[in-house]
Amino acid sequence: MTVRINPSILSADFVNMQRDLERIGSADLVHVDVMDNHFVPNLTFGPQMVQRIQAVSPVPLDVHLMISDVDRWAPGYAELGAFSVTFHAEAATDVVATARALRERGARAGLALKPGTPVEGYLDLLPEFDQVLVMTVEPGFGGQAFMADMMPKLRALKQVVDADGLDVWLQVDGGITVDTIGIAAEAGADTFVAGSSVYGASDVEHAIAELRAAATAHAH
Ligand code: DX5
Ligand code: ZN
Repeated sequence: MTVRINPSILSADFVNMQRDLERIGSADLVHVDVMDNHFVPNLTFGPQMVQRIQAVSPVPLDVHLMISDVDRWAPGYAELGAFSVTFHAEAATDVVATARALRERGARAGLALKPGTPVEGYLDLLPEFDQVLVMTVEPGFGGQAFMADMMPKLRALKQVVDADGLDVWLQVDGGITVDTIGIAAEAGADTFVAGSSVYGASDVEHAIAELRAAATAHAH
């Protein structure tokens, strides 16, 4: 199975963003956390910054929207060329309509679930999505501890994806390190976001390689 490592630039140096993007050329995608200080208690940036990241990044953009009223704002991120746009189920009024709006604009559609949100209500909707993001921390900040109790959600998703022969990537975000990535891979994840464990390392490319090796060793 293909393993994808998506470093999160939430842990990059925001005034040296281009430099820090150029350090992750061996990554599969760059994870771009958009926060509005409303859906989550933290603020990052919006479409103007994401457009510049898109222009200089060596790898495609995996945009993670942690914003309210996301039905309204998500399509704009697809229009500026993001490879994937993931929005929170808790922030959307009509998850299917928003997913379709993303796909119509050429982006992969992603559905994100906060730790307190059960997955069961979304299993029937998986054909509408290209990826599902299981949060393994409360969204808002980097550097938090991995929540291993989210693994049953991944297993439930993996079971439906396999049983129905779906092409839906299963992503985890929060607390992913060389010590936790294998747990998530074993539970069925194939796409791994890592912020502090990549940008906190002295050798960023080495950190990406180590994460990839640890995930591959446990991948299905
Ligand atoms: C948190 C963000 C994550 C964050 C992960 O809400 O969605 O993408 O960057 O950071 P680490 O990998 O440090 O837990
Ligand atoms: Zn994220």
